[in-house]
Amino acid sequence: MFHRRKGPVLILVVAAISLLLLFYVMFTVMRRAPVDEAQIMRKNLESQTDCSFDWDPLLPKRDVWQPAGENQDTYVFSAHLDARDPEFTVVRIIGINSKYKLWYKKSDYCVLWFKDINEASGMRSVSVLADSNLIPETHDRKYGVVLYSCPVLVSAEVPLFVSLVRKTCQDQPLNALPLSPPSVQPVATFSVCVAPFLFQYDRLRSMIAFVESSLILGADHFFFYNHSMSSVLGPFIDILEQAGIATVINWQDLPVAVKQDPEGRAHGEFDGAPELHYFGQVAAINDCLYRNIHYSQYVVSQDLDELIVPGDADSWYTLLKQLPPLAAAYIMRNVIFPLDQENTGPFAHDSLAKELPVLVKTKRQDHVFPYGDRSKYIVNTKLVKTLGIHTIYDTCGETTGEHTVSPSVAMTHHYKNPAKDYDLVNYDRALQFGDTILSHYKKRLQQLKL
Ligand SMILES: *[C@@H]1O[C@H](CO)[C@@H](O)[C@H](O)[C@H]1NC(C)=O
Repeated sequence: MFHRRKGPVLILVVAAISLLLLFYVMFTVMRRAPVDEAQIMRKNLESQTDCSFDWDPLLPKRDVWQPAGENQDTYVFSAHLDARDPEFTVVRIIGINSKYKLWYKKSDYCVLWFKDINEASGMRSVSVLADSNLIPETHDRKYGVVLYSCPVLVSAEVPLFVSLVRKTCQDQPLNALPLSPPSVQPVATFSVCVAPFLFQYDRLRSMIAFVESSLILGADHFFFYNHSMSSVLGPFIDILEQAGIATVINWQDLPVAVKQDPEGRAHGEFDGAPELHYFGQVAAINDCLYRNIHYSQYVVSQDLDELIVPGDADSWYTLLKQLPPLAAAYIMRNVIFPLDQENTGPFAHDSLAKELPVLVKTKRQDHVFPYGDRSKYIVNTKLVKTLGIHTIYDTCGETTGEHTVSPSVAMTHHYKNPAKDYDLVNYDRALQFGDTILSHYKKRLQQLKL
C-alpha cells in the first residue's frame, strides 16, 4: 500500500520543487537582466502629452521633501538633469515610496515645466511617463528609495522644473523641483559624499582631521547631509563653504519616521520602527551622486571615521592611474584600526598628532573585510546610475563595472573600536602623508583659534 503511494507523492514533490526553482531562476534573471535605458526612455517619450496645468510660482522648493501623492506613499526631494548620454537627456528624481513591496509596477509621470512667453503664467507643462528604479537596501522598511527617470526631447529646451505626479495631466501637481542646467565641463576631480550627520554630531576635531586628510589625498569638494549636528561645527563649515569646497544639504526634515523613539513620529502609521532605513542614507548618497554627475569626475564615499588610503600611490589621482580605466566603481575593502590600541609609530608622542588616529593608530586587524562588507568606493560619475552604501547597483555607458581593489593597492581605513577581535599587524602606509596632514591640521586649528 505504502509503496504504491510513494511514487506519485515523490513526483509531486519533485515537480513542486522544480517549479519553485524555475520561478526563482526567472525572478533573479528578470531582476538582473541589464536594461537598455535608452530604449526605455525612447518608449516613454511616446507617452509625452501637452498638459494645461496652471503654474504656481509658490510651489517649487529646493532640497525640501515634498509629497507626490495624496496618500503619503511617495515623497520627492531633488531633481537633476542628466545629459551623460549624448542621445537623450534624462530628468532624475530622488524620492521614497511605500508601494515598492507590491508586485505591480506603478506608473508615475513627470510634469516638465518649460518657459513659454505665450502662456499666461509664463510656463508650459508637458507630461511624460517615468521609469522607476527601486534601489536595494530597503531593509524591509515601509519606504524604499526610488530613482525616477523621465526623458526630455534632446531638441527641446531644458525644463526649469519637474513635478512627479500619479496620473498624466490630471491632478494638479503637489510638488515642483528646480532643475539646473548641467555644466559643460566638470570642475572638480574628487567630490566626497559623507553619510548624514546624526545625533547632534559635535566632534569638531575629528571632522577637521577627516577634511584635512581627505584634502591631502585629493578631495576638491565635500557634501555634508545635515540631519543633526552641533553648532560647534558651524565656524569650520562656514570657512569651507566660503572657500567653495563644501555644500551642506538640509536633511533634517525627512517626511517619515526615522528615529526609534516616539519623537520620530512624523506622518503615517508609526509602530516604533523606523519607516526608512538609517536616516535615508541611501537617498542621500544617490542625491550626492546626481549633484556630481556634471560637477565632478569622481565621487568618493567615506564616513567621518574612515579614509580611503592608497598603499603606495601618493594621492587618489595616482591611485586611479594604477587601476583599470573603464571601471564604474573602485571598491575599497574595509580594515579596522582599533582605537583602543596604544599609540604607535613616529607620531605616538606628539601631543597634537595624538588627536589624529590616522597618524598614531598604526596597528590594523589582519582581517580585511570582503567586497560588500563595510567596503566604500570611488566611482566614475559618468558610469554609474545607482549607488548602494558598500557597492554600486546600476551602471550606465561603456564600462567594465565594479573593480574590487586589492588591499595592497588601497583600503578603506576604519578608525573605531572593533566588535570582533582579530590579530593585529603593523601597517603604517598612511604615514606617508603624516607630516602634511599634521601641518594642515595645525594650520586649520590656528585659523579657527582652537
Ligand atoms: C544643521 O542643522 C541644525 C539643526 O537644525 C541647524 O541649526 C544648523 O544651522 C545646520 N547647520 C548647517 C551648517 O547647516
